[in-house]
Amino acid sequence: MPLVNMKPLLEKAKKEGYAVGSFSVANMEMVLGVLKAVEETKSPAIIQIAEVRLNHSPLELIGPLMVAAAKNSPMPVAVHFDHGKTTEKIKQALDIGFTSVMFDGSHLPFEENSAVTASVKQLASGYGADCEGEIGCVGGSEDGSEDIAINCTSPEQAHEFSEKTGVDALAVAIGNAHGNYKQAPKLRFDILEETAALVKAPLVLHGGTGILPDDFRKCIKLGISKINIATATFDSVEQSARAAYDANSIKGYYDLQTAEVEGAYRNALRHIEIFGCAGKA
Ligand code: 13P
Repeated sequence: MPLVNMKPLLEKAKKEGYAVGSFSVANMEMVLGVLKAVEETKSPAIIQIAEVRLNHSPLELIGPLMVAAAKNSPMPVAVHFDHGKTTEKIKQALDIGFTSVMFDGSHLPFEENSAVTASVKQLASGYGADCEGEIGCVGGSEDGSEDIAINCTSPEQAHEFSEKTGVDALAVAIGNAHGNYKQAPKLRFDILEETAALVKAPLVLHGGTGILPDDFRKCIKLGISKINIATATFDSVEQSARAAYDANSIKGYYDLQTAEVEGAYRNALRHIEIFGCAGKA
C-alpha cells in the first residue's frame, strides 16, 4: 500500500475522528525517520516539502526521493507539495509524481486566491492528484523568513472558497502560526467549529510545532483532519545530533546519520500518537 492520494487519507481521518500527520522533510534522513515511525505505528502519513525550502533541498533531487520512499513504504503515504507559490514549481512537483499540491494564495485578495486555487485544482486533477488551498492567513512564513500577521479565517468565506475552488483540503487560520511560538497559542476553537460546520472538505492545521497535545486533540474533535509539522522535526533532528555529540557517541559520519534519523523518528512518533492515527493504515 505505498504511494497514495491525500484525499482518501483525509476523508477516512475525518470520518473516524483522527488526524493525519503531514511531516516536512529536507533530506533522506528525515524521510527515513518519519517513515520508520509510520511503519512501526501502522499509520497513514503525508510527507511534504514547501516551495521556500527548495533552495536548500532542490525539488528535482528531493522530490523523486520522497516519491520513491512512499512507493517503498508498506503504509499508505501521500507526497505533498506544501505552500506552492508558483505554477511552475507546482507543475514540476506533479511531473515528479507528487500526489497532492497546495497553492498558498492566503495573502491575495479573496477573488484572486479563489481563481488561482481553482486553476491549480484543475491542473492537479489532470494528474489525478489532490489540491489544498488556504483561506485566512496562518502567521509567520514556512521558513521563518517573513513575519506574516495572523488573519483568522472567516467561516463564511471558507465555505464560499471551498465551493468555488473544489479544493480537496482547506487550511484554516485560527490563531496558529509557523515556527516556534513564544508562548502556546490561544487557538480560536469557535472559528474552527463554525468553519467545520460549513465546509465539506477536510480541514488542515498548519503551524503544528508547539501546539499543546490537548489543543491538538480538541482541534481534531472539532474537524481538523491534517496537521502540518515542520519546525519540530528540524529541531528534533538537530537536538538528536547535538545530544549524540555531547555523549561522545559520534565516531564518524554514519553515527551522525543514525542520530538524525532517530531525531526525525522520535518527533514523528510523538505526533502520530497525539493525532490518534496509529493503527489506522
Ligand atoms: P511548523 O513549522 O510550525 O510546524 O509549521 C509547519 C507547517 O505548517 C508547514 O506547512
